[in-house]
Amino acid sequence: MNTFFSVQNIDNLQEIVKEALALKANPYAFKSLGQNKMLGLVFLNPSLRTRLSTQKAAMNLGMDVMVMNMDKDGWALETRDGVVMDGTTVEHIREAAAVMGEYCDILGLRSFPGLKDRKEDYSEDLFNKFIKFCNKPVISLESATRHPLQSLTDLITIIEHTPVTSKEANGTFTTVAHKPKVVLTWAPHVKALPQAVPNSFAEWMCKAQEEDLLSFTITHPEGYELDESFTKGATITTNQEEALKNADFVYVKNWSSYHEYGKILVTGREWMPTVEKFKVTNQARVMHCLPVRRDLELASELLDSPASLVIKEAGNRVWAAQAVLKRMLDQLV
Ligand code: CP
Repeated sequence: MNTFFSVQNIDNLQEIVKEALALKANPYAFKSLGQNKMLGLVFLNPSLRTRLSTQKAAMNLGMDVMVMNMDKDGWALETRDGVVMDGTTVEHIREAAAVMGEYCDILGLRSFPGLKDRKEDYSEDLFNKFIKFCNKPVISLESATRHPLQSLTDLITIIEHTPVTSKEANGTFTTVAHKPKVVLTWAPHVKALPQAVPNSFAEWMCKAQEEDLLSFTITHPEGYELDESFTKGATITTNQEEALKNADFVYVKNWSSYHEYGKILVTGREWMPTVEKFKVTNQARVMHCLPVRRDLELASELLDSPASLVIKEAGNRVWAAQAVLKRMLDQLV
């Protein structure tokens, strides 16, 4: 694997989930694989989970890690081509990425969208230039339109927490996984947030649905439709109560409008998931990528209840990152 940017970089979801869970069971089994290999993590935006879990994953594989907070510690970056750099930008991405490629064997990049110009954000221009000029394998630590390490984590967490039943036929027992109903619900927020997490979650869940692992429903208020290229095959409804019926996993996330790009169209708490709303579910587990604004996006009574998977989900970030790094290291050796 040379790039980890979207679900399209993974042939078989079940296989990578299996690999990640094997690493969870035996984290140091490949401690020598990353010896004398350097991972560079480049952040243009803040992070807690992505930063720490990816570092831990690399260390479990024996890698060394360097972290660059480009937004605070780096030179102001120019990404446009053909401009005279007589303004505030100091270093062009062509040189910055190439130099980081000289120091590292694998690079990770986090780069959020500006939420002003949809065409520019959805072109993933900055991310693509970074890949092109660093000349090394690149992992997305969240780009303008996707957050694949989070989505792989989410799938691992869903599969890990899906009950398996044992069936007997002619004296032979076979295990059968219940096919869970997974629901992505929009939730309120006071800030305009990117569509990267819901886009990415949707495209991973649509592929998981194609592989017959689960069924997938999205619910949001009118005006919050995601780009259709991420949601093909999903059941989509603006009726949250209908969507939550018989749900096994409810993934809660805010996003700003895609069609009225970057705008907040709905305010108030009406869409906030609560214990009361969860009564129609199949005792659903609640998920969120974190950070979460308590009692705005998600009721604290749910976050603090046994239904919550948010901490286990964040813990699984390590195994998602480790599975991806291992595949990249396998190719370097
Ligand atoms: N979920 C997630 O990516 O968390 P951070 O932004 O803290 O890395």
